[in-house]
Amino acid sequence: TADIEGDLTEVLYTEGQIHARIAELCRQIEADYEGRDLLIVGVLKGAVMVMADLARELKRDVEMDWMATSSYGTSTESSGVVRIVKDLDTDIAGRNVLIVEDIVDSGLTLSWLRTNLESRNPASLEVCALLRKPEAAKVDIEARYVGFDIPNAFVVGYGLDYAERYRNLRSIGILAPHVYS
Ligand code: PRP
Ligand code: MN
Ligand code: MG
Repeated sequence: TADIEGDLTEVLYTEGQIHARIAELCRQIEADYEGRDLLIVGVLKGAVMVMADLARELKRDVEMDWMATSSYGTSTESSGVVRIVKDLDTDIAGRNVLIVEDIVDSGLTLSWLRTNLESRNPASLEVCALLRKPEAAKVDIEARYVGFDIPNAFVVGYGLDYAERYRNLRSIGILAPHVYS
């Protein structure tokens, strides 16, 4: 367990590649939100790393808030029914809200979250996801900012976990099957 990168079959993105892509997304976000307030909302726990790096890369004023959700159903199959474990502290009515996620997998979490936050009447609501798995999509998610489209593999690192492990890996990679089989 000492060398967690040794549990990967392949590194998909190095720390440097991740930071470079986040910087590109930040330049787009800065342009798109010029002259407007911005509240970024991180979805715990996976989005912690991307929130921390994105917020520090933004060369502008930004507020940060957090939500924690948990989906009902078995651990392997997301049901799409989501429960709020920790709600926002911020009233988002009239605010420009950008949801920040580590990954859009089936899309069920973000689909539910989008509907939930939309009902609170924000001035605008957009999604930024570092990773997206197009082949795994069960519902279409309008994500304005996407870092990388990735294959339908079990990825960990940079916030993404397997059984709460590997979140602290600096790179993102494919987890070796021997770890979970
Ligand atoms: C993961 C990931 C996304 C969600 C994506 O979170 O961080 O939030 O699943 O899956 P979906 O598109 O199929 O809904 P998870 O529920 O594992 O919680 P975590 O962020 O605490 O790891
Ligand atoms: Mn998550
Ligand atoms: Mg998880």
